[in-house]
Amino acid sequence: MYFGDNSGIEAKAVPGTSIPGHQRIWHNQHADSVRYLTGDALRGLAARFTSILSDAIAKVDPSDPVDSGEWVTIEDFYPWWRSRVIAAATTAMFGPHLLRLNPNLEEDFWRFADSIPTLVKRYPAWMAPRAHAARATMLASVKKWHAYARENSDYTFCGDKAPKWDEYWGSLWLKVRQRWGQDTGIMNDDGLASEDLALTIAASANAVPMAFWYLIEIYCDPALLSRVLPKLETAVTTPASPNKGQPATFDLSPVLASPLAQSIYAEVLRMRISLLLNRCPDHKDHQIGPWTLKKGAYMTLPTAHIGYHNKTTLSEKKDMTPKMRFSTEHLEGIWVPYGGGALMYPGRHFAKQEMMGSVTVFAHYYDWR
Ligand code: HEM
Repeated sequence: MYFGDNSGIEAKAVPGTSIPGHQRIWHNQHADSVRYLTGDALRGLAARFTSILSDAIAKVDPSDPVDSGEWVTIEDFYPWWRSRVIAAATTAMFGPHLLRLNPNLEEDFWRFADSIPTLVKRYPAWMAPRAHAARATMLASVKKWHAYARENSDYTFCGDKAPKWDEYWGSLWLKVRQRWGQDTGIMNDDGLASEDLALTIAASANAVPMAFWYLIEIYCDPALLSRVLPKLETAVTTPASPNKGQPATFDLSPVLASPLAQSIYAEVLRMRISLLLNRCPDHKDHQIGPWTLKKGAYMTLPTAHIGYHNKTTLSEKKDMTPKMRFSTEHLEGIWVPYGGGALMYPGRHFAKQEMMGSVTVFAHYYDWR
């Protein structure tokens, strides 16, 4: 379907193409991801993420030294952190059953994520058996969850009156994706599972490590930490009450609007994200300055190179007032962790909330040195 669809991502199909509307997969993917990762849907998703993470952290696990109330030294803190954040992100988006039905999902997920560089080289299974097996395991897990969700909740009930979230499908977006995929008449269960497998990767493979870098950059700089912590604390609407077993609640708005918190976020992404943005002029040759990109040629833009080796021409000395303001003005084409142009990644607002939200929740419950 992807190879066959030459109609573009816009609502209006590229002139001269004839893919039926219900099979315009590029456009549909793009339009739905914009719709369900912004506005009300985004607010619901982000609020669920924060509250699921807070609920999980508030539960005392007697077997976890971190919950002992004493200072503990942990050799590698990343797995501890990662597993809580990915569980909250996965539950907020896909509901609790994907993880419940597949208790090894987290481990399988990272094994699959690490296999992607091998899989995209398209080695056959006999040359890369572990990478293929990692993908097959994840696909089977998503299929199992799809079958269970279909049995328990009607995915065709996904219009305006449908709840924004249900425990079987998670976000309404997943029901919409399922119905669209079914309606193409082309996708079988493997195809449907592949689509949502890709979404598990999109949702966590970058955002979870970036949330950790956000934590590291703040906590490893005591001067910065002392400025940021009071900001993070302003997002707490009800503090945790350990005696009553009551988790804290949060409203992230002041953190999301904080120039300091946002500038750290932007720097973390500039410094720590390294992706390849891929483009292809698929209808005619494309001219950029002195270069002509031939129709059908692939172009790859490395975000890390762009982030480290370009200088802005910004010279705003006269505007350097004491009032802080966050903006990415004048950074067009330079600050590109999320890509750019029409394909600029629509979930950036959720990624931002995952990064800032996870550190805000963590900072409320723990001290870390
Ligand atoms: C720090 C975290 C993240 C980074 C750096 C990132 C980066 C990107 C980039 C570079 C693209 C391709 C854009 C292009 O080609 O210009 C993309 C696409 C996409 N990402 Fe992310 N992403 C992150 C988190 C997320 C999250 C949390 C989600 C979902 C909840 C998500 C869902 C998607 C989707 C659905 C697309 C395809 C969009 C389309 O077809 O229009 N991403 N992302």
